[in-house]
Amino acid sequence: MTPRILDGKATADAILAELKERAGRLAASGGRPPGLAAVLVGDNPASKVYVGSKVRACANLGFYSERVERPASATTREILEIVRGLNDNPAIDGILVQLPLPAQVDSMAVLSAVDPSKDVDGFHPINVGNLVLDRPGFVPCTPAGIMELLRRHDIALRGKRAVVVGRSAIVGKPMAMLLLREHATVTICHSRTKDLEAVCREADILVAAIGKPAFVTEDFIKPGAVVVDVGINRVSDPDEARRLFGGDERRIAQVLEKGSTLVGDVLPTAMWEKSSWYTPVPGGVGPLTIAMLMANTLKARMERQG
Ligand code: GUN
Repeated sequence: MTPRILDGKATADAILAELKERAGRLAASGGRPPGLAAVLVGDNPASKVYVGSKVRACANLGFYSERVERPASATTREILEIVRGLNDNPAIDGILVQLPLPAQVDSMAVLSAVDPSKDVDGFHPINVGNLVLDRPGFVPCTPAGIMELLRRHDIALRGKRAVVVGRSAIVGKPMAMLLLREHATVTICHSRTKDLEAVCREADILVAAIGKPAFVTEDFIKPGAVVVDVGINRVSDPDEARRLFGGDERRIAQVLEKGSTLVGDVLPTAMWEKSSWYTPVPGGVGPLTIAMLMANTLKARMERQG
């Protein structure tokens, strides 16, 4: 079977173009631009890259953005004060606290302090509850982006068997809720699941959000399944790259020339050989997360008066 690619980059670009047009109409009518604040605590290199991309995406769409940075030694009290200030700031519609926070900061207290109407990450307990209850609210960006990707590629979900591997609050759990909302029959698996391979082999739609490079192999994939790979892992060993990417010389050259390449949670050769549709890494799920954050920020702006 020749699988088809669920092109996250093209889908994200289409979503961003739509948002830019809507933001342009808002500006043309004299409206205040949507505003996003990104709070970055400490110096996690990946978090810096993500926050940089989010701020750049705002600039590209004509959104206002603020980047608030604090050192890794920041306290819960300091971060709570920042969040409260942003809650009261009329130029800010969306607040994003980049995770993970340093260990001494109480993440739950911080996420719960965000005004639910500005919670564009969908991490506040009120929005988590709204998602479970199928009520309006903010939905976490990565699972929301995956749903948009499936929808825009006409992937049917009603009555299908969906298996989500990973039970995080950011991806696994909200993903399961959204698939359920579209009438899939959903199973959530995790590190303690017995006979994980057999459960995954039942899946018409398999979502891998585990955080382990190339963990999902041929034996996990039903022939013709739709495979969504949420993982982003770095591979720097050329021999390992050869094993993961088979004959894809481009990837091996990338490791040799740039020092590393990215692999998801699914073994690429397995995805290529057994799926009907799959998300590549990079260029699959990743770009959608930021597009949906921008969508949530515009939604927050439109729901706010003034
Ligand atoms: N860390 C990993 N993913 C995310 C995300 O979607 N939002 C935030 N704020 N932090 C993250």
